Amino acid sequence: MITCRGYDEVIRRVYDHGQEHLFAEWDDLSEDERELFLRELAQIDFDLMNRLYRERDRAAHMDFRPAPYIRIPLTDDERRERRQALERGIEVIRSGRVAAFVVAGGQGSRLGYDGPKGKFPVGPVSGKTLFQIHAEKIVRYGRKYNIAVPFLIMTSDENHSETVAYFREHDNFGIAQGDLFIFRQNMIPSLDRSGNLLLRERHSLFKNPDGHGGSLTALHTSGALEAMRERGIDIISYFQVDNPLVSILDPVFIGFHDLRKADVSSKALKKAYPEEKIGVFVQFSNGRIGVIEYSDLPEEKSRETEASGELAYAAGSIAIHLFNRGFIERITAGTEISLPFHTAEKKLRSYVRGEFREIAGLKFEKFVFDALPLTENNVVFETLREEEFAPVKNPTGIDSVESAQRLMSDLHRSWLAARGIAVSGATTVVEISPLLAVEPGDIDPSLRVPETERVYLE
Ligand code: UD1
Repeated sequence: MITCRGYDEVIRRVYDHGQEHLFAEWDDLSEDERELFLRELAQIDFDLMNRLYRERDRAAHMDFRPAPYIRIPLTDDERRERRQALERGIEVIRSGRVAAFVVAGGQGSRLGYDGPKGKFPVGPVSGKTLFQIHAEKIVRYGRKYNIAVPFLIMTSDENHSETVAYFREHDNFGIAQGDLFIFRQNMIPSLDRSGNLLLRERHSLFKNPDGHGGSLTALHTSGALEAMRERGIDIISYFQVDNPLVSILDPVFIGFHDLRKADVSSKALKKAYPEEKIGVFVQFSNGRIGVIEYSDLPEEKSRETEASGELAYAAGSIAIHLFNRGFIERITAGTEISLPFHTAEKKLRSYVRGEFREIAGLKFEKFVFDALPLTENNVVFETLREEEFAPVKNPTGIDSVESAQRLMSDLHRSWLAARGIAVSGATTVVEISPLLAVEPGDIDPSLRVPETERVYLE
C-alpha cells in the first residue's frame, strides 16, 4: 500500500474499495500532483459509486398513464381561465418575484462545436449566440415590467471559466453585474464496465457533470438560492440553453402556476410522432406526475393511440419548468430526499498506463424532471411548438441549427402579421431582436420593414 503523510485514511478507503489501480503511476508523480490527487480522492463518496454500479440496470418504474394537462383553450371557460392566469402572471412578474435560470453545463459537442453550447451562433440574420438571445430577452423583460430580473446560469467544470469570460467580454449583454449569477454544477466520477474508477490524466479522476438534475443541489450549494430568498424571489423559471424560442417569463404560465399554488409547473407540447426524442408527462399509480424519458418509454406505449387517433402519450416535455424556491429549499435541505442517478453507457476517453484510450464506460446523471413526483401540487401546461420550441441539438436535419433558424424566422414573421405589418415577397428570412420584442404586443404597428431578402429588426 502506498503512503502519504496526512492521507492514510483516504488511501485506506481507496484500497478497501478495490480501486488501487488508480495509484499505478504513483511513483512518477510529483509531490504536488500526489497531494492534488489525494485531495480529490478525499471528496469521493465510494459507497455511492458502489451503489450506482450495483443498481445501474435497475430502472424501477411504477405503472403509469398519460398525465392530465391544461390544454390550449378550446372553450369559452378555458379562454376565460387563461385571461385570469394572464392577469395574475403579469402581477407576479411586476412584483419582481421571478428569476430566470438556464442550465448550460453541456458542451456543443453534438454540434461539432468545442465550447459552451451557449456560445453557439443561432440568430438567422444577426448570428447572435444562444446566450446573447437569452440575456437580451431578460433585459427586455426588465424594461417592459420595470423590474430587475436575476439571471442564473449553471455551468460545469468543462465550461465555467469560458462562460464567465464570455459574459464579461460582452458587458453581460446588458444585464447588471448584480443580477447575474454564474455557478458550477457538481461532477461525479465515471466508471468502466467493471466498476473501476477511471483517470482523466495520471493524477486526476475522470468525472462528468452530474446532469441537469444536479441543478437543484447546485442552486443550494452555490448560495444562489439563498441570494434569491434575500431578493424576494419566489419562482425560478428553468430552461435549457439549446432552445432560442423559450418564453422565459411567460405571464400565462406563471399565472397558472401561482393560481394553482404549484410547487413545480412544466410546459408540454404535442409530440410530433411516436419516436420523437422528447420525454413524456405521465401520472404514476400513486397519483404523482412525472416525466418518462424517450429512451425509457416502451415502444408499444409510445405508439398507443386514443379513440380520436391521437397519441395517448402526447404531452411531450420541452424542459421548461417553474420551480418554487421553497420547494427547492425543501428538497435540497436534508440528505434524505435526492434525485436518482440514471446510467448511460458511453465511450470515455480516459488515461490508462501512459496513453489515452476510448473505454466503454458508465456515466451517471440526474434528470431535473425526477423532481416532479416529489411535488404535492403541480401543473402541466400545453404550449405551441411553433411558438416555443426550436432545440439546437444537431448541425443539420431534425432539431438542428437550420430548423431552429427557420422556426425563429417563421415565428417572427407571424408576430409582424399579428400586428398587421406587411413583409415584402422578396424577404426570405426575418429576425427580431429580443431587445425590440419578446412577444407580438411589443411591436409598434407603424413599424416599416425594409424590403430586403434578409430582415433584421432591432
Ligand atoms: C432533453 C431532455 C428531454 C427533452 C429535451 C428537450 C433529458 C434527459 N432529456 O434531451 O426530455 O424533451 O431535452 O429539448 O434531459 N445540462 C447541464 N448539465 C448536465 C447535463 C445537461 O447543464 O450535466 C444541460 C445542457 O447544457 C442542456 C440541457 O441540460 O441545456 C439538456 O441536455 P441534453 O443532454 O442536450 O438533453 P437532451 O438529450 O437533448
